[in-house]
Amino acid sequence: MKFTRRNILKYAGSGLAAGAVSGAGWQFRPTIPYDGPSDMPLQQGSGPSLLIVYDSMMGSTGSQAAWIAETAREQGYRTALHRAETAPAPLAYDAIVIGSAIRASAWLEPVIEWVAAHRFEITTRPHWFFQCSMTCAGMLRGNEGAPLTEGQRAELRHDCDSLFRAAPNLAAAKVTFFPGRLDFARMTPILRFGYPFVAGSVMNGDYRDKAAAQSWVADQLV
Ligand SMILES: Cc1cc2nc3c(=O)[nH]c(=O)nc-3n(C[C@H](O)[C@H](O)[C@H](O)COP(=O)(O)O)c2cc1C
Repeated sequence: MKFTRRNILKYAGSGLAAGAVSGAGWQFRPTIPYDGPSDMPLQQGSGPSLLIVYDSMMGSTGSQAAWIAETAREQGYRTALHRAETAPAPLAYDAIVIGSAIRASAWLEPVIEWVAAHRFEITTRPHWFFQCSMTCAGMLRGNEGAPLTEGQRAELRHDCDSLFRAAPNLAAAKVTFFPGRLDFARMTPILRFGYPFVAGSVMNGDYRDKAAAQSWVADQLV
C-alpha cells in the first residue's frame, strides 16, 4: 500500500467506521443532535414529480435537501423527501435529486446502497447529485466569494469515488458541491482526535448556503 493522502484517509475512515459498529461505537458518532427534516411523502395532484433522496449524519445535508424540496414545490413539482434508508424506488418519479454528507472522503453508505440498487432506473430520468462537506466550505471561504474552480471541483469529486464504483453507469453524472456545517467542539473526544486524520483539516462552523441550494435546483428544474 502506498502512503498517499487518499489511502491514509481511506484506512483511517475504515477504522472509524469499524469503531462505529463495535462496542465503542458511541465514541465514533457525532454527538451533535440530528436536526434534519422528517421524510415527506409525495404530494397529491398534477405536475411532475421529484424524488429527493439523501443521507446525513447531523442534519445539515437534510436541511439542504429540504430547501431543495421547497424550491421544487414552488416550481410546480410534487416532491417527496426521504433519507436513503426509507427511500422508495425511483420508477414512480419523473426526476431525482440525490445527496449525501461526506464522511472520511466518501458518501454515506445508505445513499451508496440506494443508488447502487437503482442505478439503471436512475439513468432513465433526469437526475442530479449533490454533496455537503467542510472541504467545500474551506475552499469557498478561501475563494472569498468566488465560485469553486474547476480544480477544486475535481478534487471534491474524488469524494464520489466509492459512489461511482458502486454505480459505474452513473459515473459521468454532474455533482454539485455545497458547504456544510460542523460543530467540532461537540464531537466525542475520540472523533475530535481522529477527525483531522480522516478529513485532512478541521473546518468548524455553519457554512450552509440556502440561496445557493435553491438557485441550483431552480436552474436544474427549468
Ligand atoms: C466523522 C466525520 C467525518 C467527516 N469527514 C469529512 C471529510 O472527510 N471531508 C470533508 O470535507 N468533510 C468531512 N466531514 C464534515 C461533514 O461532511 C460536514 O460537517 C457535513 O456538513 C455534515 O453533514 P450532516 O450535518 O448532514 O451530517 C466529516 C464530519 C464528520 C462528523
